[in-house]
Amino acid sequence: MQPEVRHVLHEPTSTFSYLVWDPETRRGVVIDPVLDYDPASGYTGTETAQELVALVDREGVTVDWVLETHAHADHLSAAPFVRARLGHPPLGVGEGIRTVQERFKALFQLEAAFATDGRQFDHLFTDGEAFAVGRIPGRVLHTPGHTSDHVTYVIGDAAFVGDTLFMPDAGTARCDFPGGDPAILYRTVQRLFQELPESTRVFVLHDYAPGGRERMGETTIGEQRRSNIQVGDGISEAEYADRRRARDRSLTLPTLIIPSVQVNIRAGEFPPAEANGVRYLKVPVDAFPRAY
Ligand SMILES: [Fe+2]
Repeated sequence: MQPEVRHVLHEPTSTFSYLVWDPETRRGVVIDPVLDYDPASGYTGTETAQELVALVDREGVTVDWVLETHAHADHLSAAPFVRARLGHPPLGVGEGIRTVQERFKALFQLEAAFATDGRQFDHLFTDGEAFAVGRIPGRVLHTPGHTSDHVTYVIGDAAFVGDTLFMPDAGTARCDFPGGDPAILYRTVQRLFQELPESTRVFVLHDYAPGGRERMGETTIGEQRRSNIQVGDGISEAEYADRRRARDRSLTLPTLIIPSVQVNIRAGEFPPAEANGVRYLKVPVDAFPRAY
């Protein structure tokens, strides 16, 4: 039995949030829910997250986990909203989140009480850890390179690779955020190519629809090996890393990186309210690091 997969698209950041379930038991998981956020006004919104909850309701799925592939830099997580609407299923992330919390606690000079042991999440997955979606076996693979905490969730014949791979005509995600490294991403992709059968369905987190083609989120390991323009078979680590670094140097940072990382290392919560009851985010001036 293989899982059913549906997505909700967050247009402003081209992000696919996934609902994955076992059709026999109708038990499922939500992966990478997105909170709407307007950086100009500082207002949040739950329209996209409500769409995801409506999808869960429509399909009659009981959600047993909300999962994050990594501490995203381009969007804020809607995990708290989605969990509250779905009966508080536990929130899982890779154990590497602790290093990310340490890094950004220092950069943002967060309050002393901010814990960097991952306790804001309900479960920290280790590499190779098994879990289940209904009766379908799942496992977690640590897939660093884009970020150091990144994990891939393999559920039956489907792999939710987050930002490890884009669609074959788009290559991979960038590797210049703090903790990113193209050589490590290359090795991660080789591992996925070796460990997962060619027929594995691959679901990506983002698709920016290069060349104006239709947006797509699903491919296979075989297609990635044959035709990924940046890391397909036959491309060396050095070749990939050189091209990736050159490309990354030409990219501006995502619009929401500064709010995103502050919220996402708190499992989607905002910093505690100040004396006037308002929650604030910080902007480090002339201080945001790049990996290279
Ligand atoms: Fe990302």
